[in-house]
Amino acid sequence: MEEKDRIILALDVAGYDEALEMVKTFQDQVHIFKVGLELFTAAGPRIVDDIHGLGKKVFLDLKFHDIPTTVLKSALVAARLGVYMFNLHAMGGFEMMKRTADALSELSLKENVPRPKLIAVTVLTSIDQYALRDELSVNVGMTTQVKHLAGLSQRAGLDGVVASPEDAEMIRSRFGKDFLIVTPGIRPHWASADDQKRALTPREAIKRGADYLVIGRAVTAQPDPIQALKRIEEEIKGF
Ligand code: C5P
Repeated sequence: MEEKDRIILALDVAGYDEALEMVKTFQDQVHIFKVGLELFTAAGPRIVDDIHGLGKKVFLDLKFHDIPTTVLKSALVAARLGVYMFNLHAMGGFEMMKRTADALSELSLKENVPRPKLIAVTVLTSIDQYALRDELSVNVGMTTQVKHLAGLSQRAGLDGVVASPEDAEMIRSRFGKDFLIVTPGIRPHWASADDQKRALTPREAIKRGADYLVIGRAVTAQPDPIQALKRIEEEIKGF
């Protein structure tokens, strides 16, 4: 994979105009843009269509979590929108994941719609060991839970997981080279950590097994964002 294909730029803006402006600014440097809950709630499918209209790909980061029928129907809508990748919560359970993965395969056969990459969120990184045990009543350690949910996702036919760069190595060694790992929490050594507590550099994340890096402020908050992207691409070259 080329360096540019590994970078997903997060469109963490509140509205359609700002988002499209951002895509236009970065379109020569970035091939995949992440549309999250805030932007999608504000701008709807039109923003996805218009990013596609510029020849770019979309990672639809809506983290579906509902009963199997609702998730699979929403997944089919996402696939028909033509998104490159989208995600759901593995905590929604095996049946939800399996039926969704199966429905996507069936759709791509029947309607010749390209099958989007389906990625699971295991444990949100905002959940710490305390919240896992005392709030959610999950009585195993964080790594065990992440590993368990990643395994469940793989068995259900998902393409990979969103993971912190720190978990990437464990996931890569346990679930094989074809299981995709998408990592946010990326900070080059020259960028501010912001609110990311356990960020790793782009090179370190790739070395540990990440396929895709989700990057936001490490680029967008730089005085020269295009230059920042070029530096990141340079850093991950050859890994
Ligand atoms: O911190 P940064 O600006 O690079 O964040 C980029 C994107 O990654 C944001 O959309 C954020 O929601 C997402 N994300 C994250 N950390 C996680 C999970 C998702 O930064 N653990």
